[in-house]
Amino acid sequence: MKLVQADAAAISYAADMLRRGRLVAFPTETVYGLGADASNPEAVAAIFKAKGRPADHPLIVHIGQPQQLQDWAREVPEAAFRLAEKFWPGPLTLILNKRERVSELLTGAQQTVGLRIPGHEVALQLLKEFAGGIAAPSANRFGRISPTTAQHVAEELGERVDVILDGGPCRVGLESTIVDLSGLQPVLLRPGAISRQQLEELLQTELLLQPRTEIRAPGMLAVHYAPVTPARLCVASRLQETIRRLAVEKQQRIGVLTCRQPLPESPDVYSIHLSDQAETYAQAFYAAMRKLDVLHLDAILIELPPETEAWRAVHDRLRKAAVGET
Ligand code: TXA
Ligand code: MG
Repeated sequence: MKLVQADAAAISYAADMLRRGRLVAFPTETVYGLGADASNPEAVAAIFKAKGRPADHPLIVHIGQPQQLQDWAREVPEAAFRLAEKFWPGPLTLILNKRERVSELLTGAQQTVGLRIPGHEVALQLLKEFAGGIAAPSANRFGRISPTTAQHVAEELGERVDVILDGGPCRVGLESTIVDLSGLQPVLLRPGAISRQQLEELLQTELLLQPRTEIRAPGMLAVHYAPVTPARLCVASRLQETIRRLAVEKQQRIGVLTCRQPLPESPDVYSIHLSDQAETYAQAFYAAMRKLDVLHLDAILIELPPETEAWRAVHDRLRKAAVGET
């Protein structure tokens, strides 16, 4: 594995590795992706193997230009072009009906395909040099926390990846918003930085919030973003009391993630204060979970952020990271 600063030479090298069917991890504005040539079935199979991901979990194809939508999608509804024009490059994935020749290996046997143009210079440069679609899930082992730095990718995948392009920490920090446009009505499959309101405003229609069928996105499995240490959500009003109960009475070593105020220092309580602003919180959330996870604590307590629309994507990931509420 080669971890390199993502300069022009490294990007050319990475594009060449992709052409040879190898795996290249690269930064996007959301999280790091584990990329492979989307039209090479062996390279796509290598992604599943490296992640330890079940075959029925579809991959997103990253493209460099909106015109490339037609290379993968059988029909591109007008809504897709409108969303693409407004939000791409950016943290939005569109699910469209796939072309027949698009491999079911890539789409996890679905008749649809996920597509996005990422909003990150390194990713865009790589897509330009490679000139094809790059299949890329988040560059973590299956069921683990998504990586937001190149170092996280190295820790997650080690020798399972051929090249890691280091483009610094990701700006958004949570995975892209996913909208399914393959049916009669648009469905929000995964909340992200592009909000439901922004999408509805542009589409002039309401988004359905529930997927129509069984589990179609691994992000919907409860364990998907789970740290190894059991994490619990806790309302702000009960935070102090819960910390006392666990740390003092039960003598547990605990980690705490706060959003409103930092906790006063105390031994055996490892607290990280993120932010009371959803965007800033989101950017740092996965890295903070990783930091606490490696301490092998007895438990992680997560102070519940406000129940407002701005926090929707964060709440979604919190509920997936947590084993329960306290
Ligand atoms: O921000 C992101 O989307 C990142 C970066 C690397 O682009 N990628 C990412 O990929 O989060 P992944 O594989 O970890 O999550 C992609 C999600 C999965 O939940 C997958 O099931 C869903 O997209 N997905 C992909 N294709 C789909 C399809 N045809 N139908 C339904 N869901 C699909
Ligand atoms: Mg993922």
